[in-house]
Amino acid sequence: MRNFRSHKSLDLDFSSNFVYFSGPNGVGKTNILEAISLFSPGRGLRGASISDLTLSQSETFWNLSSLFKISNVFIELELGLDKKGKKTLRVDGKNKPLIYLTEILKIIWITPLMDRLWIGGSSERRRFLDRLVMNFFPNHAKNCVLYEHALKKRNFLFKENVNDIAWFLAVEKQLAEIGYLIDKNRREVIEIIIEMQISMKKKGHFPILKLGLDTDPIKNSEHFFEELQKSRKTDFNAKRTLSGPHKTDLLVSHGLKKMQAKNCSTGEQKSLLLSLFILSSLAISKKFRKPPVILLDEIVAHLDKENLTIFLDQLISINAQIFATGTDKKKLDILPADAVSYSLDCNGGESKVFLS
Ligand SMILES: Nc1ncnc2c1ncn2[C@@H]1O[C@H](COP(=O)(O)OP(=O)(O)OP(=O)(O)O)[C@@H](O)[C@H]1O
Ligand SMILES: [Mg+2]
Repeated sequence: MRNFRSHKSLDLDFSSNFVYFSGPNGVGKTNILEAISLFSPGRGLRGASISDLTLSQSETFWNLSSLFKISNVFIELELGLDKKGKKTLRVDGKNKPLIYLTEILKIIWITPLMDRLWIGGSSERRRFLDRLVMNFFPNHAKNCVLYEHALKKRNFLFKENVNDIAWFLAVEKQLAEIGYLIDKNRREVIEIIIEMQISMKKKGHFPILKLGLDTDPIKNSEHFFEELQKSRKTDFNAKRTLSGPHKTDLLVSHGLKKMQAKNCSTGEQKSLLLSLFILSSLAISKKFRKPPVILLDEIVAHLDKENLTIFLDQLISINAQIFATGTDKKKLDILPADAVSYSLDCNGGESKVFLS
């Protein structure tokens, strides 16, 4: 890592399947997980702007260089910034589109912000689902960006009172074609997760989930195209597009209690999240015959010893490489015997990392 947030220059070798970073608040633990999360398309685990990641006062942009061993082949992946402030990827020294990342490796994460996933607004849940879908369908990331562009265009026409039917039809056609794919892929991934849950012979310690979307499936792009044309008048009055995959919400309920996630207790909500996370990890591992890279930010702080052990055991059982952070060194006894542990401190705004 070079000039990445609080890390001026850091070289680490993650040869263990479990890597733990500990240290007080603000020393740069999450920054390391964020750096790893950038090896997936998009803005990474904090959703931060790519151009904000450079170490303050540094004259050179951030840069991440890594050697991944994937299916016994070493691949050199380098991330950086171009002049326009966009993330760039080089694979074995050659420029490649970012979508390539999802084709070769899957990365999923849990952060303390997700504790509010079930009670917050629907956009966070959509983003959570879409990230998951991107792991199964690499094109999903691009589709989401294209859909957002088309949506902005349609809403712009409303706001500017444009009455150009041909323009509307062109934008709506694009929205319909991409929107249909987005909806279809989301539903397919939900189905994969449900099937994973059914196939788990030994029912896990975490609650059984009921999963779904709050809207009817889009039958096909033609149908959605017609719907958009029909709703143009209402949307025109509202000055925005009122329905479509950009409004769909992910519904999660506690299977046994038949209780929506948002109405469950704090601890139950966390368990529902962990259930979904475990099922997603297992489903990725099964479908692609290789486990995802797993990032667990501050997981130790939120779980008691029993829950944490069971949670980690499930993830370890698929041979996933896990990176975790915590402020607490005492909880280290729960981590697997082969865990490698680093401690961090921060000096004058610059993080230092030590093997502990
Ligand atoms: N661009 C940047 N340049 C320099 N420092 C930065 C930059 N962005 C963030 N930081 C600093 O990085 C520090 C470490 O952040 P990080 O979130 O990794 O801490 P942490 O160890 O995970 O702390 P906590 O336990 O509170 O979660 C923060 O103090 C923040 O001010
Ligand atoms: Mg942190």
